[in-house]
Amino acid sequence: MAAEDRLVTAATREEDLDGETSLRPSRLDEFPGQDRVKENLLIAIEAARKREEPLDHQLFYGPPGLGKTTLANILAKEMGVAVRTTSGPAIERPGDLAAILTNLKPHDFLFIDEVHRLSRAVEEILYPAMEDFALDLVIGKGPGARSVRLSMPRFTLIGATTRYAMVSAPLRDRFGAVYRLDFYNPTELAIIVARSATILKVDLPAEAAEEIARRSRGTPRIANRLLRRVRDYAEVRNNGAVTLLATQEALDLVEVDGIGLDDIDRALLRCIIEKFEGGPVGLDTIAAAISEDADTIEDVYEPFLLQCGFLQRTPRGRVATASAYNHLGIPLPANTGRGQPSLWEELDAE
Ligand SMILES: Nc1ncnc2c1ncn2[C@@H]1O[C@H](COP(=O)(O)OP(=O)(O)OP(=O)(O)O)[C@@H](O)[C@H]1O
Ligand SMILES: [Mg+2]
Repeated sequence: MAAEDRLVTAATREEDLDGETSLRPSRLDEFPGQDRVKENLLIAIEAARKREEPLDHQLFYGPPGLGKTTLANILAKEMGVAVRTTSGPAIERPGDLAAILTNLKPHDFLFIDEVHRLSRAVEEILYPAMEDFALDLVIGKGPGARSVRLSMPRFTLIGATTRYAMVSAPLRDRFGAVYRLDFYNPTELAIIVARSATILKVDLPAEAAEEIARRSRGTPRIANRLLRRVRDYAEVRNNGAVTLLATQEALDLVEVDGIGLDDIDRALLRCIIEKFEGGPVGLDTIAAAISEDADTIEDVYEPFLLQCGFLQRTPRGRVATASAYNHLGIPLPANTGRGQPSLWEELDAE
């Protein structure tokens, strides 16, 4: 299946770009969920405002679609400052970053998405900028080269990443606060879907919102996508009426199951169970077996499967759990004294 046809992707699609701008909450009180993060941010905002200082540098990490970009924009709005948005791979040379930094106004936000993909040379420009609001530039080449330090406006760096472990330690240490965004619970997702339905002018009964929420794998972006699929389905097959039944039919048709797993999630679990006797099996082997990119599996599919308890990561590779067999309706292999069941015992004992 082409990446753009999938409901569960890391990529932001065109439909999302239209939709995400309009569906994106613009204030913290319109942003359900992530309560601990929000509480900390409210304190940071108020303290910065009181001291008339820029907000401390903030780093958000977590799986795609949980609200990292949204929170960055909300924060800027709450602070009443402008945001300059860029991303790790977009900044190729140190000079590019220096140019961006010198053009910031005092207290502005610089939002760097995929911050783990900054090159080492670019990161080195960032360190003194974050710490001392200074730019160290090297002028000239060879033995005559010298370094000059320029001061720059005090600004706030907001970093976002789906790969916390790949953010270099010196960069990580320079953020004043680091927040992990978690998957949302169905109650929070139902609130998010209901709000999106109002904006999209869809008459969505509570039970249909709850059904979408349950099947959105804890992710607001997916909840919004499913809502659009349900709206389309209801328009074409149900005279525009979004009922619980129409919602279920629409979601069955796009192969999102009762707890939100899609065909790739199921293929991944099936592959471990059927081709590798439940595991352990390495990520690259799984990726090759289901023709998926290993990074995509790690960033997009695994976090939710781990959260559901369908998958375990062990030093020897990925293992499908007993719940995964149950969910897929595959009988557990008999305990032969070696292989799968003994591995579960090992895991249970941890
Ligand atoms: N708490 C929330 N309340 C309402 N909508 C939300 C919330 N979190 C995310 N969304 C919606 O989900 C969509 C995706 O959010 P966002 O772009 O902020 O995710 P992200 O974490 O930056 O993802 P990525 O890692 O792919 O960049 C947006 O349309 C946004 O409106
Ligand atoms: Mg984002």
